[in-house]
Amino acid sequence: MATPRKILITSALPYANGSIHLGHLVEYIQTDIWSRFQKMRGHECYYVCADDAHGTPIMLRARAEGIEPEALIDRVWQEHTEDFAGFAIGFDNYHSTHSEENRVCATTIYERNRDAGHIARRTISQAYDPEAKMFLPDRFIKGTCPKCGAEDQYGDNCEVCGATYSPTELKNPVSAVSGATPIEKDSEHLFFKLGDFEKILKDWHKAGHVQAEVANKLNEWFEAGLNDWDISRDAPYFGFEIPDAEGKYFYVWLDAPIGYMASFRNFCDKTGVDFDAYWNADSTAELYHFIGKDIIYFHALFWPAMLHGAGFRKPSGVYAHGFLTVDGAKMSKSRGTFIKARTYLKHLNPEYLRYYFAAKLSSKVDDLDLNLEDFAARVNADLVGKVVNIASRCAGFIKKRFDGKLNGTLDQPELYNTFTKAGDEIADLYEKREFGRAIREIMALADLANQYIDEKAPWVIAKEEGRDAELHAVCSLGINLFRVLLGYLKPVLPQMAEQAEAFLNVEPMNWHSQAEPLLNHAIDKFKPLMTRVEKDKIAAMIEDSKEDLAAEAKTTAAKPSTDSQLAKDPIAETIEFADFAKVDLRIVRIAKAEHVEGADKLLRLTLDLGGETRNVFAGIKSAYKPEDLEGKLTVMVANLAPRKMKFGVSEGMVLAAGPGGKDLFVLHPDDGAQPGMKVK
Ligand code: MSP
Ligand code: ZN
Repeated sequence: MATPRKILITSALPYANGSIHLGHLVEYIQTDIWSRFQKMRGHECYYVCADDAHGTPIMLRARAEGIEPEALIDRVWQEHTEDFAGFAIGFDNYHSTHSEENRVCATTIYERNRDAGHIARRTISQAYDPEAKMFLPDRFIKGTCPKCGAEDQYGDNCEVCGATYSPTELKNPVSAVSGATPIEKDSEHLFFKLGDFEKILKDWHKAGHVQAEVANKLNEWFEAGLNDWDISRDAPYFGFEIPDAEGKYFYVWLDAPIGYMASFRNFCDKTGVDFDAYWNADSTAELYHFIGKDIIYFHALFWPAMLHGAGFRKPSGVYAHGFLTVDGAKMSKSRGTFIKARTYLKHLNPEYLRYYFAAKLSSKVDDLDLNLEDFAARVNADLVGKVVNIASRCAGFIKKRFDGKLNGTLDQPELYNTFTKAGDEIADLYEKREFGRAIREIMALADLANQYIDEKAPWVIAKEEGRDAELHAVCSLGINLFRVLLGYLKPVLPQMAEQAEAFLNVEPMNWHSQAEPLLNHAIDKFKPLMTRVEKDKIAAMIEDSKEDLAAEAKTTAAKPSTDSQLAKDPIAETIEFADFAKVDLRIVRIAKAEHVEGADKLLRLTLDLGGETRNVFAGIKSAYKPEDLEGKLTVMVANLAPRKMKFGVSEGMVLAAGPGGKDLFVLHPDDGAQPGMKVK
């Protein structure tokens, strides 16, 4: 074997104010597979990560919970580590950016850059909340979009028309922290002069340390020009105070990537591994960062520049992946597809997901879809139907008929060789992060193994007199082929591989340990290594993930009183025209109307908005039979937040008027109006 490489690998640090979800797991699973693969190859490889604990959102979240930020980040650190362990993410170290090691590393990097002249100071004017006494990040200012007039938009972009602008352009701005009107206030800020590193960055990119798609994006950024980067924030802020700037703190994104280094420092202090060998400017070790496509700017521009400016080595590779969609759409809390790691683990085996992601991952930045139907089909067909099936068809005979002992020779040595020879190609694909292709190669081998067993039909041989030797040979080769496959799958399925090692009665497998077959070797009792993905477990996970978005919204159900009087139902509080204008009323066709089991007032309506359908529950059973409604038009509130109700999620509301009982009116005259039309 070639000389072992020294490899340090990281995944992006998750923010310490939210739960780990399946989107995050694309990254942690991708990185973990690569790290396990490198370790199996015999390299000196470490995989470190940490929680990203600083910044305004974390400070405000702690405030809202009435606790100190330290208490919040401790609690979240605990949750995150448990979630990662649940998915067998094998970090060698999991630290926090709010740590002494990170303070030291951040200070060093800052001071060395400052002393080399890469830090500038100048006064800028920013939005300030006079009540909360703090400067406001763009995301904490809301107001009316200057372009289209949509209300309640963030200070940096409009979700309605897509315009981007600066918070000072927003009309009627308010602070999301206190509700006060922000004022403009001056303050001195520190800037990292990114432009100083243009040549170094261009050379570094050209040397192939980023993916081709990323290099294209970077060229656009170079053409637009590299601006100074504001790295300071004024108090109050949860972070590290800047050594020579009292009351000013490092911006969270300054010390976040430094957290990679700090986590490794913490690890080295515990284990005696040589930190400098990995970080010195002349280091021959390899350093790889796995990240999502949303944070490329930070990792492919700021981070290598900061490292270079401070006299450290630059990364060997920054590898960006795409975003996860579920069933073809962005993860959605109301549809139950915003699935947290914890929720998944309550219902399903983590290795199903590890396998599915592996099968869909490539070295590209493309987005990746978790199609739940395909997920179940693929895992069941490949892992249960192909891989586990090989062992389960052979193990019983070895145990019962041959005292658990494998044959002394191989039935078809060339078949075994085909399997071991494929190892180089599969390793090459893992190395290149072409996991999907590696999985396809492995499954092609699994097909060969099953074909062999099908042809030999040990279950037939077993019933015939005098064919014991043949039976022994066939099942022994089957078990040996299974072993090679599990070795190849081990980076993806570490838990299943471990169970297989116990069953095969072998030492933990590495990439080279399957070169020689197991002969005259005693195996253990076979236990099913994986059960099928059950559809109802997936459904239960989705149901569990649906959040009650209406928890805080007041119920506005009409009272079914027939003798309505103003005294009994006083007119509600006056609303402004602007509030009314937010209600998006649409004409819809009632495509389907059904009774709801167990509900005495509700009907379930499927509404056609002209291209989109919605599921809405309406309390109109007293006035209409379902069959009288189908095909008719009505008016709905189309932009009402989905609400989780006892019988399912309601995605809007139909407008019913009338005193109640039989006198409830929902139908719109069918006068040529088309579903989807806005009601004026
Ligand atoms: N704290 C920063 C990273 C700092 S690294 C020095 C951050 N945190 S995050 O929690 O928002 O995201 C962590 C990682 O998960 C990022 O690489 C991000 O791209 C990735 N993902 C978050 N949501 C994702 C999907 N829906 N799909 C795929 N990856 C996603 O960014
Ligand atoms: Zn707008």
